[in-house]
Amino acid sequence: MSNRLVTEIAGLKLANPTMLAAGILGMSGSSLKRAAEAGAGAVITKSLGLKPRIGYSNPTLVQVDCGLLNAMGLPNPGVHHFVEEISEAKKGGAPVIISIYGFSSEDFGEAAKVAAEAGADALELNVSCPHVEKTGSEIGQSPQLVAEVVEKVKSIVNKPVFVKLTPNVTDITEIAEAAVKAGADTITAINTVRAMAINVETTRPVLANKVGGLSGPAIKPIAIRCVYEVYRKVNIPVIGCGGVTTWQDAVEFMLAGASAVQIGTAIAFEGLGVFKSIVEGIDSYLENMNFESVKEIVGLSHRY
Ligand code: FUM
Repeated sequence: MSNRLVTEIAGLKLANPTMLAAGILGMSGSSLKRAAEAGAGAVITKSLGLKPRIGYSNPTLVQVDCGLLNAMGLPNPGVHHFVEEISEAKKGGAPVIISIYGFSSEDFGEAAKVAAEAGADALELNVSCPHVEKTGSEIGQSPQLVAEVVEKVKSIVNKPVFVKLTPNVTDITEIAEAAVKAGADTITAINTVRAMAINVETTRPVLANKVGGLSGPAIKPIAIRCVYEVYRKVNIPVIGCGGVTTWQDAVEFMLAGASAVQIGTAIAFEGLGVFKSIVEGIDSYLENMNFESVKEIVGLSHRY
């Protein structure tokens, strides 16, 4: 692939501006490696906490119009048990970012320390899961709590820190600014949108947890708006996430201000080949539009 696609985010060199989003194929070193080999410029693990967590009972995932609705409940083996997966993931040749969550800033700090020692190239703080009590968006809806978590992690590790924000707030820029002030290196916008489905035959909520998070094409316009707003307010890179399925989606996010995009739900529908088609599509677009580097299109829509 051409040099036009090479980019750098918070000191991480990426062969192209796509990333495997947290939560999909991120549970083992070998699946992360496969995503990198399929063309992801960086890969992100499923969110890991200090202790193993079983998560919710099934059903935890359902397909709805234009997307997926999930409430897994942050199932994971615990960050300590994931350490050995990292060296396998790194064989894919792309930076490996460990997503962490916690129930307090101390939890986040400890998990970050383990993740950094395991060889993570960067950390992504999940302050945006929309349905697990006392973590995720319960932290991410408060500028003070977000600042506390980011400050704690930055005081403990010397790695780039991405902060993944929730769209389930009145003003996402207020949260982004608090994260930046506390030392965040990159903002990821957005995690899933709090949502629900009810089965009309059984009359029951479909997900065992009743409420979950909506991802996929249905949320792309919300994510584009969030990236656009955050880009205007912060002076660190923004990474777009939410419904990226085609190269046109990726370019749209970059025009809104994203330096890179994360891909998740599209993999469930299209398989890992989606990385190749998106990356090749971005490359042809840059060539046809006479851009020498993908960095030139970041935020271009803000000229108007
Ligand atoms: O249920 C889950 O594990 C989802 C996590 C997230 O949306 O961050």
